[in-house]
Amino acid sequence: GDGNKEREIVVGGSKSKSNGKVERTASSTSNGTTGVTPTNGQKKRIYFDPDDDQAQQSTDAASQSQKAKARRKASKNVDFNLRNKMLETRQQLPIWSGRDALIQTIQANNIVVVLGETGSGKTTQLPQFLLESGIGGGLKIAVTQPRRVAAISLANRVSQETGTQLGSLVGYSVRFDDMSWKGTALKYMTDGMLMRELLSDQLLSQYGVIVIDEAHERTLRTDLILGTLKSIMQRRSNASLPPLKVVVMSATLDAEKFSTFFHSAPVLYVKGRQHPVRILNANEDVQDYMDGALKTIFQIHQSQPLPGDILVFLPGQEEINSLGASISMFADGAQLKHDIVILKLYASLSPQQQQKVFEAAPSNTRKIILATNVAETSITIAGVRHVIDSGLARERKFYTSNNGIGIDTLFVKPISKSSAMQRAGRAGREAAGVCYRLYTENTFLKLSKTTPPEIERTNLNFAILQLKAISEETYQQFEWLDEPSTEAIQQAHINLFGLGALDTHGIITDLGKKMAGMPLDPAIARILLSAQERECVSNILSLCALLSVDSPLFTSTNQDGDDATRERFASRHGDHIGLLNIWAAYGEVAAGGANADVKEWCSSNKISERTLRRAKDIRAQLEHQCRRMGMDVSLSTQDEEIILQCVLQGMFQNVALRQGDGTYRQIVNHGAVKIHPTSSLLNRKAPCIMYHELTLTTATYARTCSSIHPAWLRSVAFYNQREST
Ligand code: CDP
Ligand code: MG
Repeated sequence: GDGNKEREIVVGGSKSKSNGKVERTASSTSNGTTGVTPTNGQKKRIYFDPDDDQAQQSTDAASQSQKAKARRKASKNVDFNLRNKMLETRQQLPIWSGRDALIQTIQANNIVVVLGETGSGKTTQLPQFLLESGIGGGLKIAVTQPRRVAAISLANRVSQETGTQLGSLVGYSVRFDDMSWKGTALKYMTDGMLMRELLSDQLLSQYGVIVIDEAHERTLRTDLILGTLKSIMQRRSNASLPPLKVVVMSATLDAEKFSTFFHSAPVLYVKGRQHPVRILNANEDVQDYMDGALKTIFQIHQSQPLPGDILVFLPGQEEINSLGASISMFADGAQLKHDIVILKLYASLSPQQQQKVFEAAPSNTRKIILATNVAETSITIAGVRHVIDSGLARERKFYTSNNGIGIDTLFVKPISKSSAMQRAGRAGREAAGVCYRLYTENTFLKLSKTTPPEIERTNLNFAILQLKAISEETYQQFEWLDEPSTEAIQQAHINLFGLGALDTHGIITDLGKKMAGMPLDPAIARILLSAQERECVSNILSLCALLSVDSPLFTSTNQDGDDATRERFASRHGDHIGLLNIWAAYGEVAAGGANADVKEWCSSNKISERTLRRAKDIRAQLEHQCRRMGMDVSLSTQDEEIILQCVLQGMFQNVALRQGDGTYRQIVNHGAVKIHPTSSLLNRKAPCIMYHELTLTTATYARTCSSIHPAWLRSVAFYNQREST
């Protein structure tokens, strides 16, 4: 330390030469200058991965079956040289000393909880121990991950360790990409994919062992799987199938909850290898964390010796790409002490791209890895000695109206203390390291202890529909890790009935099953299905994307320009069509123009280009999903009323009627609502409005409103009811 008080927190470190401590000081990290000066001297090379070379996966049936054949053949080939070479590295992982104890405990118990610090070898080694020891009786072993990028990279690693080709003995299965066949004995998969497999095989009869990894993250899907597994284990023993074994793995110390949930299951603790990490807090919170990260990166690079790679935690892909561009621009004009290579790690990367993160950098070169919280516990990258923590993450959340209808989106949120500690720990994997926090110690102390489970942040529509789609029995026997309120469950039933997904007895309908097959919030799934019937999927895809981001219009109320923009794109139908008008205009400018033209158009119309780009991104993902489900995504309509009718099909509860005194009341609970001042329907006296969401400030305001015909409500009710009888 530099004279500041230091606190010691033991985070493990059984085998390291160090004493296994994390030190903390409160010195400044990011307010200094970078020490990098522009120069005309010899430039260092910068390796940069453009992220537009995304490899297209071939999907046609012929090539798929060829791929499968090749895999089957490959599964017989084991590269013993590779396997033996990697065995030495594997045997050095902390988990190896506990190999026999793990195997014995899992043999003797159907459910075991395994706790271990990140990097101890849980995810890569434990499944191989199971495979080698024959646990699972010849049935498959599944290992679930909350993120696809982790599932793919881990499968890659483990297939190398076993000396086999990826997709043969060891494979993965994530949305839109299946690298496995019936002979795959060990399958890494997202928790979402295992949920989907439950839809067609409710006893998971192919599997002998399910390993639930990263259970501490408590994603909604992980919680749903844990609750479902509890009853499956029971039902499997009644159904004369081999028993199902379950291993719950967590990187944090919250094992008690999982153990209690599974009737006091035994807990095994794997000690990690942790070197001391010195934590440097900023003196004051960094307002512009991107700039703070940039300065800190070059400060480290110019002052610290090699080896020692830098890992930067950022909230998401957008920030990663933007910082990546800044780094290469900055480095281009600077005299650097060593070469740098910029690498990125986030969810939607192709397998080829993410693999680069693990490749050793050329000699005399420093790796700078820009990552989301996937690098927090799921993925360990060798060589990191410096961590820069923005203190932020994108958190998944259903963007809901108060009636519980909405779309899945991600919000940038401060991380928890537990996440901050995990991030810091990434610097001490191989040697003593340093973590630079772009926030003060005081801010750290005010962070919540852990991230609350996702189930506490979302409505239950999706969860209940999924469980009922597996089977009514699954739903009836389901136990929650954290029990939601009866009101929340009732509300979800009412919503799902209204959408036509459940019938009057609460039983799932055919329409409901279709909706459950779509990895979307049920209301959005309903809107898209209705767009298919009405042949306007293209319009609705754009609208759904626009509704899931903030308003693209800048809304500082005292700017004259705002109103002009609003009027230019306004529609007599209201804000939904208004959004589509902006979208169409943006599309025209973007199609014809250079980047500069688009920028100019956005700024002169007071429109946020960043928001529109994000919407474009979301639209591409939604379109991909619809294509996969065989929808014709090119169909569009000029008829604005048809578009609004589609939306109403999913949003029928978000309707309010104008009263005699000029106020509006919701049709669902007769609560009073006011039209939000930013809406084009303000003062327009529309008799019946549909809104996207309600916000509560001085009053309840309806945002993003459209004028609809009351008679449409009857036809919506008819449509949804027709489906549910
Ligand atoms: O799950 P846990 O955090 O306990 O460790 P792991 O994911 O099994 O990783 C064990 C070690 O394998 C890591 O420390 C990495 O050094 C190495 N590994 C790797 O080199 N490449 C991968 N794709 C995955 C793991
Ligand atoms: Mg792991």
